This record gives sequence, C-alpha cells and structure tokens, in this order.
Amino acid sequence: MNVLVTGGAGFMGSAVVRQLEADGHAVRVLDLLTYAGFAAHLAGTGAELVVGDVCDPDVVQRALQGMDAVVHMAAETHVERSLVDAKPFVRTNIEGTRVVLEACRDVSIQLIHVSTDEVFGSTDAGGFVEDAPHLPGNPYAASKAAAEGLVRVWERCYGVRARTVRCVNNYGPRQHAEKAVAGWIRLGLAGQPLRVHGAGQAVRDWLHVEDFARAMGRIVQFEGERSVFHLAARCHRTNLEMAERIAVLTGAPGVELVADRRGQDARYALEDEGTRADLGWAPQVALDDGLRALIALER
Ligand SMILES: NC(=O)c1ccc[n+]([C@@H]2O[C@H](COP(=O)([O-])OP(=O)(O)OC[C@H]3O[C@@H](n4cnc5c(N)ncnc54)[C@H](O)[C@@H]3O)[C@@H](O)[C@H]2O)c1
Repeated sequence: MNVLVTGGAGFMGSAVVRQLEADGHAVRVLDLLTYAGFAAHLAGTGAELVVGDVCDPDVVQRALQGMDAVVHMAAETHVERSLVDAKPFVRTNIEGTRVVLEACRDVSIQLIHVSTDEVFGSTDAGGFVEDAPHLPGNPYAASKAAAEGLVRVWERCYGVRARTVRCVNNYGPRQHAEKAVAGWIRLGLAGQPLRVHGAGQAVRDWLHVEDFARAMGRIVQFEGERSVFHLAARCHRTNLEMAERIAVLTGAPGVELVADRRGQDARYALEDEGTRADLGWAPQVALDDGLRALIALER
C-alpha cells in the first residue's frame, strides 16, 4: 500500500514509518517540522518527506494523491505547553484533523486517527472501555477529544472510512527531551537529579514506541469490524517509581520533587482486551529492557 503518515517526522510517527516500510508499504510523510519534528528522524528510511501544514487543505489534498491510507499523527503533543498556550493545540489538533477528514472524504481513502488515553481523564482503578465518555483534564487532552468527535461525525455523516487508535504513554528512541522519560534520561546522564512533579504519585502506563509501531502495522492492514483500538502496555508505574528507576540506571544522584503540574490527572488506563485479541498483538519490550536500551543509545 501507499501510506501517508502525518507527523511522521516526530517521535512516534518516525517509528511508524519504519514499521510500515518493514511491512512492505511505501510511505510519504507530511510534516511541518515544528520544534518537535526533524527530517533527521527519517534518516535511513525511504520515506518521501513533504514539508507542509496539516491545516492547509491544498497541501493535504496534494499529499494524499496516490495514497491508499493515511495515518494521522500530526499534532501538538506536550501537555505543559498546552497549559501555557492552548491556541496551537486547538489549531493543529482540531482544525488540522478537520482538514484531513475533508481531504479523506473527497478521495474516499481510509483514515487511521491516532489519539490518546488522555481523552478519558483519570480513573482510580481498571481501564476505560472504548465507548467510555470523554472527560479530558488539560487543553491537549481536550483538543484530542474534540478531534475524535470530528472523526466520529465525519464517519457518521459523510461516510469517511476511519479508525481511531488510542494509546498510552510511549517512550523510546527519538523522543523530544521535553517529555518525561527522555528528559529524565538526559538529566540522569548529565549527573543531575531527576525532577518529578508533586509527590510523584501520578500513575502512567508505559509502552515502548516499537510495540506501538508494530500494532500500527497491523491496524493499517486490519480488515475486521473494530473501529476503535486501545493500545495499552499494562505496565503502570507512578512517576516517582519511573524516575527512581531511571536515576538508578543512569547513575543520577536521585530525584527532586518540584511543584505539581496544573490539572495533573492521577491515573490513565485503557481496557485493551478486545484490541489485543483482534490484532493478535501484545507488547514485546519489557520496561526495564526498553529503558536500558534507550539509556545505552543516549550515552
Ligand atoms: N507521545 C505519547 O506518549 C502519545 C501517547 C498517545 C497518543 N499520542 C499521539 O500520537 C501522535 C504523535 O505523538 P508524538 O509523541 O510522536 O508527537 P511529537 O510531538 O513527537 O510529533 C508531532 C509531529 O507533528 C508535526 N506537526 C505538528 N504540527 C504540525 C502541523 N500543523 N502540520 C504538520 N505536521 C505538524 C511535528 O513537526 C512533529 O513531527 C500525536 O497525535 C499524539 O497526540 C502520543
């Protein structure tokens, strides 16, 4: 297949590009190369890079020409930035998704929309099922929930062939240092204490980006009924546990607690039984192995 990956020069997008190529697909990337996107992330791949904005209908229409499917990942993704200025999040994540949906409707190709566990907000126990109500807790999550709403409506009202993928926190190669794990590894290797928000009791589920990409490879080829996929690692850790482990692995002097993040959600979790069964997928990278390999890469 010919697959367009929006945001393919970012962290997760560049892993998906590699997986799709390994699966035999030809890949084109549409990416604006914002502060979070790098052409170098595509080094060694055969992907064609189109530098452009997902909010520009002409750019998106041209990028879709000759494609069989689009994996839509272009987004503003850092929660803390969204708390300072939500505007780019509303623009790229919501308006950008509307533009992609319109373009998919015009040419009738399949859309795989990448969303997040954050749309549901927090849960004390268990995981959110696919049709649980959305209760986003920060501007980033709200923009992703709104984008999901648009995808659902364009499916219902205009017959766009769409599937939605929600996944938990990813970590792995090429992640921007503003994100927790990548930032902690940098600090640890620089011999500095790892900064953790609040008491570090927020709980996240950690999936290696190559496991995410393997699942995306299967979703692109999936011909069954499922329209919403939940990709979870079942590997929950408090931020404090995660930082303390990275401190040990990097030889950092320890962890430093700093002011809590505004609107911090206590725990994210997805119920993923159906997705695993339908895709025949499960994560392969154990957290400690993934962290050790990543630290070795960054040294
Ligand atoms: N990182 C996670 O743990 C996580 C978890 C769940 C879901 N997601 C979702 O996965 C997707 C990818 O996340 P990531 O962590 O790789 O993000 P990232 O910030 O590393 O990459 C985003 C990419 O989108 C590009 N981009 C931004 N605005 C654009 C625009 N207007 N036009 C074209 N390209 C633009 C950037 O240049 C960058 O290459 C996002 O949709 C995100 O919401 C991420």
